[in-house]
Amino acid sequence: MPQPRILIVEDSRTIRKMLTKQLDEIDARVTEAVDGKEGLEKAKDKNFDLIISDVDMPKMNGFDLCKKLKSDPDTRSVPVIILSTNDREEHVEEGFRVGASAYVTKAKAGEELIARIKDVLTRSAFSRNRLILVVDDSKLVRKSVRKGLSQAGFNVVCADNGQKAMHLLEEHLPDLILSDINMPIMDGEAFCRAVRAREDLQEVPFVVMSTESDRRVMREMLAHGASAFMVKPFHIEQLVITAEKLLSDHFQLLLKERQRLDTERNMLLDTIASLVQALEARDHYTRGHSEEVARIATGMGRVMGFSPQDLERLEIAARLHDIGKIGIRDEILLKPGRLTDEEYDIIKGHPVQGADILSPIPSMAPIIPAVLHHHERMDGKGYPHGLKGSNIHLWARMIAVGDVYHALTSQRPYRAPMPMGQVFEIIEEGKGGHLCPDCVEAFFLFMDQCRDLPPQTNRKAMPSTAATNA
Ligand SMILES: [Fe+2]
Repeated sequence: MPQPRILIVEDSRTIRKMLTKQLDEIDARVTEAVDGKEGLEKAKDKNFDLIISDVDMPKMNGFDLCKKLKSDPDTRSVPVIILSTNDREEHVEEGFRVGASAYVTKAKAGEELIARIKDVLTRSAFSRNRLILVVDDSKLVRKSVRKGLSQAGFNVVCADNGQKAMHLLEEHLPDLILSDINMPIMDGEAFCRAVRAREDLQEVPFVVMSTESDRRVMREMLAHGASAFMVKPFHIEQLVITAEKLLSDHFQLLLKERQRLDTERNMLLDTIASLVQALEARDHYTRGHSEEVARIATGMGRVMGFSPQDLERLEIAARLHDIGKIGIRDEILLKPGRLTDEEYDIIKGHPVQGADILSPIPSMAPIIPAVLHHHERMDGKGYPHGLKGSNIHLWARMIAVGDVYHALTSQRPYRAPMPMGQVFEIIEEGKGGHLCPDCVEAFFLFMDQCRDLPPQTNRKAMPSTAATNA
């Protein structure tokens, strides 16, 4: 948790100093105010994560301060902990009634306060980025539910019937939906069905709220997609607790699903690493080829502003681009001399074979075009399909640049690695014929960033002297 900003509103200097010292334990940034009036001014002036307020103070007491904070849209989502000498039940009740998130007696502050602060801050951080859609035809219900949820830190949008709510759902993807049943135009049952029919909303918790007379309908709705129901009239605190519980359960489910996908992904990446290792172990001249092509391609991707997800997919594509060679016999793949036309045709089959190997794995679908077309050329003279220009998948064009770069810079049975200046010349001259001009530009920008580019290199001065590998 980042350093919390906490406002202490307390008229006793001794208690203020004691609290400030106690808050050292959670590394809080503390501001002090000597009464409710000053507390209100400071709360409006600065953004606080939490306000701790005494009750009996001159000018404005803690309950009035809390009431004012909770009625102002700018401060209503800041949680308040009431710290009081009074532990009478009606006093505590009043604290919650005016909108406090917790109530701690001064006698127990030493042992309880820090734990309550941590709890309130965690709940508030959890609510802050959550959006709740409230659907009810009663203006009064919408107003009070919006107020209660906003005070608890949630973001709220409202609609007065199911149809309007469906329009709102075009723009907003809520974390939770609260809906009445009896509404004009589209009632709660029809609205719940419409929500569940939308794939992106199927998992969003849906809470039905209606009067006792609708209890049977609400129970039936549980079987048809609703997550919980609340019987009107309910206390707003009860609603906040239900919302927090459902969102937390939903969050846990999402977290578990995320962990499962991460595990699956890591297993897949391990399998890929083994496959590539098996392929490259056969030929020590191409050892590390896939890794280097992946480094270059992802470097270009970063220059081109790729999203983290696309960078990860591009990296997998680059690491697997030659995987189809795994099916080529050693006497052809490792043949030291010149290949016959027939043998060369077999080598040229590796992009298609690579795509065939990956096609049964659904998560590999986005990278297959990159594997299949990494030997296409901008001028249409490549293989396997003779595609031209932008018809070739962008990732395939990027891999082609990395492929050329590594082929020229690595040791081959028939030549030493080329000097860097010459490599850059060849890549520059490949623009438009073999290589994609935009990708070549991204390649040079990446090389500049890596400081691999010698300062005096004139990329156009030297003629192309080498062919690239298959
Ligand atoms: Fe290849």
